[in-house]
Amino acid sequence: MTSADLEKRPADVSSMFDRVSRNYDLTNDVLSVGTTPYWRFKTRREIDPHPGQRVLDVACGTGAVSRILADHGSEVTGLDFSQGMITEAIARHGDHPNITFQQGDATDLPFEDNIFDVTTVSFGIRNVQEPKKALAEMYRVTKPGGRILVCEFSHPTNGLVGWGYDTYMNVAMPSIVKLVSSDPEAYEYLFSSIQAWPTQTTFASWLREAGYEQVAYRNLTYGIVALHRGRKPRSATVHAPSSQEIQ
Ligand SMILES: C[S@@+](CC[C@H](N)C(=O)[O-])C[C@H]1O[C@@H](n2cnc3c(N)ncnc32)[C@H](O)[C@@H]1O
Repeated sequence: MTSADLEKRPADVSSMFDRVSRNYDLTNDVLSVGTTPYWRFKTRREIDPHPGQRVLDVACGTGAVSRILADHGSEVTGLDFSQGMITEAIARHGDHPNITFQQGDATDLPFEDNIFDVTTVSFGIRNVQEPKKALAEMYRVTKPGGRILVCEFSHPTNGLVGWGYDTYMNVAMPSIVKLVSSDPEAYEYLFSSIQAWPTQTTFASWLREAGYEQVAYRNLTYGIVALHRGRKPRSATVHAPSSQEIQ
């Protein structure tokens, strides 16, 4: 059994998530000491789901965010490359009339250009081997004028909170994980991947590089998590300009 590491080889990452899929939500809730619902609430508020809005939930995992958005009327497509996660998502929420789940890779989205009002990814982009490629793909499938929302672990902005957080992750979390997770090694990867993840300002610059405008972020829980947003310009084209346009 190969564990994922910071190389983030897709086969290792997807099989790691296959293994934790059944207990994933429980482990998440325990490890986040009950703050996950708050982060999801903020994500939902920022997305502002409503009927007629088409949303792509990239790296949807067990479908928790897809479900919240669909309950508020959005038409949601949840996509993940882990068969285990997609199977759990379908078992839990597959009968919801507003959700479709499908297996697929964030760096090669199986969708046409310009079709989603919002693309979103929660705690997923950090696990993608080529995150900038995933951002480019999310941009491609978003309608001009549409938005991206990324909820991801980030870096605490307050020294004391940072110290407490590091202590929790290094000392308390490994013991808790042994009790609640079927794959404790997966959670060693969790901590190292969070530490290696870019800061809020660097990630915001990646969104600008991908072509988004009105890029901004909001720190949640003192920056333990950051909620990033951006908008695809209304004038955007994703295809290479035709020779006529170049002239
Ligand atoms: C930490 S889980 C987050 C799941 C869910 N979004 C949530 O908030 O609970 C990360 C997910 O990213 C998925 N993932 C990682 N890389 C991916 C890729 N290249 N394409 C699609 N899914 C990917 C994993 O399979 C896993 O389900």
